[in-house]
Amino acid sequence: MHLPHPRGPLTEELLGALRSGIDDFYAVLAAAPTATGEDAALALWVLHELHYRGFGEVPEQLEWDPQLIRVRRVLEHDLENRLRDRFTAPEGLSFVEDVFDWIDGHEGPSLARHVHRDADREQVLELFRLRSLYHLKEADPTAWVVPRLGVRAKAALMELQYDEYGAGDPNRLHHHLFAEGMRASGLEPAYDAYLHLVPLEVLEQNNALSMFGLHRRLRGAALGHLAAFEATSSLPSRRMAQGLERLGFPAEMVDYYAEHVEADAVHEQLAVRTICAALLEEEPELEEDLWFGAFTCLDLEDRFARTMLARWGVEEEVA
Ligand SMILES: [Fe+2]
Ligand SMILES: [Fe+2]
Repeated sequence: MHLPHPRGPLTEELLGALRSGIDDFYAVLAAAPTATGEDAALALWVLHELHYRGFGEVPEQLEWDPQLIRVRRVLEHDLENRLRDRFTAPEGLSFVEDVFDWIDGHEGPSLARHVHRDADREQVLELFRLRSLYHLKEADPTAWVVPRLGVRAKAALMELQYDEYGAGDPNRLHHHLFAEGMRASGLEPAYDAYLHLVPLEVLEQNNALSMFGLHRRLRGAALGHLAAFEATSSLPSRRMAQGLERLGFPAEMVDYYAEHVEADAVHEQLAVRTICAALLEEEPELEEDLWFGAFTCLDLEDRFARTMLARWGVEEEVA
């Protein structure tokens, strides 16, 4: 995995310093508070990546470099504030009882509907390239939440994660299925392959997931995000699978989505009725953060969908 190209003053400093192998990041720290947009988002994505597979040219001990952690915290603080500013907690609703209806009542643009009926092959390939940043990690950010939970929530989350990781079979591991789908579709299945193409919205989707996973304080947001993600996956996955068949995409990629039609119909129940319910029994004060995570999931997906539909000149049709 290689470091990406910079997108502004902060990533110029950060990527230059990481490449040169120096371990003095003072100039990076100085540039962080004023960084915005893609520059800030790419810097945070790179810093989070040090906790996943890392980069071949970056020494592994930099994962816990105190100056880099401070840069990460500056960028995460800004991201979390911006996400919380967009969120208003729903009044008088119970997360476990009402979240499915709340999601059903959410109006947003749908990329899956466009792929189902109208998208052309090039648009779908573009979607795969941009989504690969997420799909090639899939359940990884949620894995960090596991040791932070009580017994019941932990057992239920592991049941879900066990499925995501292929139930012991590497060939069924979901992010591997997506990689095989990419390969069969003629794409490069590595998450640095298309990093230079991804817009701000995709970087922020991935950064929010990593931030929720990496901070014990945000375990409620991580599980709320998981619940909303699973609850908005089954039907769109069916539409995706049918759209890919319409366009003649290879079976490997169709299978990835077909797998999620069945799996996520189960996962959404597990996420809400068991994982989140068990979390709330032990820690009822986390209910608002469950909503915050769920809202953030839908909101970031809406922003990405709007960007793509506008790019393709497609009139937005609200779900
Ligand atoms: Fe999955
Ligand atoms: Fe799932």
